[in-house]
Amino acid sequence: MEKREFDARYDMYRQAVEEYLGGLFVDKPHWADLYESMRYSLLAGGKRIRPVLTLEFACLAGMDWEKAVPVACALELVHTYSLIHDDLPCMDDDDLRRGKPTNHKVFGETMAVLAGDALQPEAFRLILTAPGLVPEKRASCALILAEAAGADGMVAGQVLDTLHAPKTEKELKEVDHLKTGAMIAGACKLGVAAAGGSGELLAAAEEYGYQLGLAFQIRDDMLDVIGNADEFGKPIGSDKEEGKVTYVDLFGIEGCGQKVLACTEAAKAAVALFDTDGFLQTLADSLAERNK
Ligand code: IPE
Ligand code: IPE
Ligand code: MG
Ligand code: MG
Ligand code: MG
Repeated sequence: MEKREFDARYDMYRQAVEEYLGGLFVDKPHWADLYESMRYSLLAGGKRIRPVLTLEFACLAGMDWEKAVPVACALELVHTYSLIHDDLPCMDDDDLRRGKPTNHKVFGETMAVLAGDALQPEAFRLILTAPGLVPEKRASCALILAEAAGADGMVAGQVLDTLHAPKTEKELKEVDHLKTGAMIAGACKLGVAAAGGSGELLAAAEEYGYQLGLAFQIRDDMLDVIGNADEFGKPIGSDKEEGKVTYVDLFGIEGCGQKVLACTEAAKAAVALFDTDGFLQTLADSLAERNK
């Protein structure tokens, strides 16, 4: 797909996501300090890759994508909570996220923990009240999100990453599959499930998401070494400081670059039959070269 056409569609999806998220937690109860902390991270300028994936897969599965916006944003709420908690002193202990001070630096650790806590059930509320979805589809979407984020998904990956000191390629691949792949694959599957798409498309979405997720995390680890903090929006050298072994330690920057390309090609192959206008192919290619 031509870059201009790709950018226009990405921006259209992203704007719908920003608008929807911007309308959340705007009331003023006397615990509005909680809302402020949640909105601070939700609206801090994330790339919105996961909700864009949900909306594109909903579209490919034949749905009016606008009806899938609440579901797409639900996963972004869970992603945002995972970042708030990931940055806490007891986890990666980082001070910069999306180019701004991390949530706990602004609101304190107690509120950062609680903002993350609140974002999780609120995500399920969005799915379970999504106006464009019949109850069966809401239930399938809720299950996909629970599996992506839960004890055998993203949180399992975070446990391995922070507490099990993974070192071998096999161990690192498992960490990345769980901590990053599960949520990206979940985002892809959510779109298909919201639309009631075919089993074949669901399987392709899952494979695309996991391959893209692995490429995405390896690129993230590369940028933690060769990135520029202003552009990346996160500190450089955080993994080393935390004593983490990453793909960069095992394969070097060049070797990682090759792995990113191989996973990107595998992702593209998984959806080749369905991605008729090439949006997903262009997205995968652009993420392989990302600097932010
Ligand atoms: C950050 O994800 C966490 C990783 C899996 C590396 P993103 O790079 O998608 O973060 P935002 O949402 O754009 O800030
Ligand atoms: C992804 O790993 C973490 C999540 C599942 C939230 P990282 O710890 O590498 O993510 P960044 O680099 O802090 O965004
Ligand atoms: Mg981490
Ligand atoms: Mg981190
Ligand atoms: Mg990282």
